[in-house]
Amino acid sequence: MSKQYPGWERGRPRPHAGETPALPKMQDTGMVISCRGLRKTFVIGKLDVPVLKGIDLDVQRGERLAIVGASGSGKSTLLHLLGGLDSGSGGSVQILGQEVQQMNEVQRGELRNHALGFVYQFHHLLPEFTALENVAMPLFIRGMKSTEAKPRAAAMLEQVGLAQRIQHLPSELSGGERQRVAVARALVTEPACVLADEPTGNLDRGSAHALFELMQQLNTKFNTSFIVVTHDLELAGRMQRCLRLVDGVLLQG
Ligand SMILES: Nc1ncnc2c1ncn2[C@@H]1O[C@H](COP(=O)(O)OP(=O)(O)OP(=O)(O)O)[C@@H](O)[C@H]1O
Ligand SMILES: [Mg+2]
Repeated sequence: MSKQYPGWERGRPRPHAGETPALPKMQDTGMVISCRGLRKTFVIGKLDVPVLKGIDLDVQRGERLAIVGASGSGKSTLLHLLGGLDSGSGGSVQILGQEVQQMNEVQRGELRNHALGFVYQFHHLLPEFTALENVAMPLFIRGMKSTEAKPRAAAMLEQVGLAQRIQHLPSELSGGERQRVAVARALVTEPACVLADEPTGNLDRGSAHALFELMQQLNTKFNTSFIVVTHDLELAGRMQRCLRLVDGVLLQG
């Protein structure tokens, strides 16, 4: 199994017996995510809106990368393409050495569930589920039993400082608390790479600092890569590398 998913090192959760994804074999390139000549143009009626104009990027295993840029510059669009959530208008994306464009939706879903964690800009929690159930969801999707998944989810919620809120619904949480639930959900599977879109956008200084500490711990412990979109230049400065998205291309920070 580890040969099929070279991004998983010792200590990473493995798929359960009987749920082997039907993915082709991958080469271990040492990169978690790469893209070449990545382009995205939105078409609205007769209007073409070019947002990404040829992005080349290699994110190594264990790397912590910040992406900054003005509002509307295409940061969320880029993150969605890098995570295989959307397709580009041109160019290519590889996740753990595998060409995303050549995968079908089921394969993409499997790869995302096993290799990536997402923190969306607008958290996307499921409103009818508790914080605990939201965080356990990626584990349920893997086929993990509730008796195993829920304690793991509870431990991750404790790590983000929400031990007292696990039975709350999203509507019963503050904006910052919801964001922390979303972060716990992204981290609970100990993925090879976390893609986070403004993960500290709703947090006060102390909570933002604690969240970055947690990311750093995971980075060290599991060699998890992080690609973090942020407006917070102080936090961006604490990453190993910072790139700026300007006019559809990535520039050195
Ligand atoms: N589905 C869509 N259809 C049409 N245009 C879109 C779509 N999604 C994004 N855009 C446009 O693409 C551009 C980039 O959007 P994106 O959300 O990636 O920006 P962003 O850098 O994440 O901004 P912010 O910092 O405000 O979150 C914007 O001009 C936006 O209007
Ligand atoms: Mg955005």
